Amino acid sequence: MSEEAYTAQMKRAMAVLAQGGLVAIPTETVYGLAADARNEVAIQKVFDLKGRPAHKPLIVHLGSADQLVAWAQDIPSYARLWADAFWPGPLTLILNKHPSVLPIITGGQETVAVRVPDHPMTQALLQAWGGALVAPSANRYGQLSPTTAQAVSEAFGSDAPLVLDGGPCPVGIESTMVLCTGDQPVVVRPGMITAQMLEVVGGIQVKRSADNVSVEAPGQEASHYAPATPCYLWDRERDGDWQPGAQSVGFLGFERPSFETASFKSMPRNPTQAAQTLYESLRQLDAGGLALILVESVPPTEEWSAVADRLRRATKPMALVR
Ligand code: TXA
Ligand code: MG
Repeated sequence: MSEEAYTAQMKRAMAVLAQGGLVAIPTETVYGLAADARNEVAIQKVFDLKGRPAHKPLIVHLGSADQLVAWAQDIPSYARLWADAFWPGPLTLILNKHPSVLPIITGGQETVAVRVPDHPMTQALLQAWGGALVAPSANRYGQLSPTTAQAVSEAFGSDAPLVLDGGPCPVGIESTMVLCTGDQPVVVRPGMITAQMLEVVGGIQVKRSADNVSVEAPGQEASHYAPATPCYLWDRERDGDWQPGAQSVGFLGFERPSFETASFKSMPRNPTQAAQTLYESLRQLDAGGLALILVESVPPTEEWSAVADRLRRATKPMALVR
């Protein structure tokens, strides 16, 4: 993009936001559907366009951690350490909300989710905007998060908002979300910043699962982050002898399976690279008119925990296809 085109696009985005409209923005994780975080009418449009239930709160995106005090209060010292170490970056902190935060953002809860995204285009937009933007992932409710501008446009079709094209998202899956309000912080959505990384920086033990914690945890629906094609979690050891019969099968995994696939996508053996390509690979398989998609299970280690979480939510157990 030329410098003039870039400047013109940024100006247009600012004007749309100022008028209470929506703009799809690139972040390092996935594309977001952004609106003015102080404009209730604009925020309602986000829920309407996504088809998202009102009780699912939104993340507030800030240009820098300096703005945090306008959105949250009683910020624990470990959360400050995380903000210093990981922002801008793929980490969302759930904190006690500042009284001025609109209830539509928090779904009426007393907490607010906040992060500082790390993408040059969205950073420039946030700096110019001066305030905060709410932004859920820029997909229809329950579907895969988009990691390219084209995927955003396809998700919304003729309803698509202005999309700022910042290229493919380098992290590729949503931010780590940590609840920072109780006695012990809890990872309510794993991401590429792991609980162990948080423990090292924060000097505090971090709970790895939101089970038994009363919180609106992300993606708890039976099917979330899911392609439209039936999708199953295939394990090389357990399911290696499975045969598809006449069905056309798409496969995403470390190596080819023993049976013929109609479409094969290779999953990198490195979790960072696997995350980066995960949603785009699933999207491409989903567009292939296949009968089913099999996704290979990943190692049960912490560095794979975010990818494993998304695979679990995108797939059904293999037992259901056998
Ligand atoms: O990487 C990301 O976090 C992306 C980019 C665009 O920033 N955003 C994102 O937002 O994934 P969204 O809305 O698709 O997912 C956020 C999840 C939702 O499931 C929401 O219900 C939950 O976080 N959430 C938001 N605020 C919360 C809160 N105060 N307490 C508990 N859960 C919250
Ligand atoms: Mg989402």
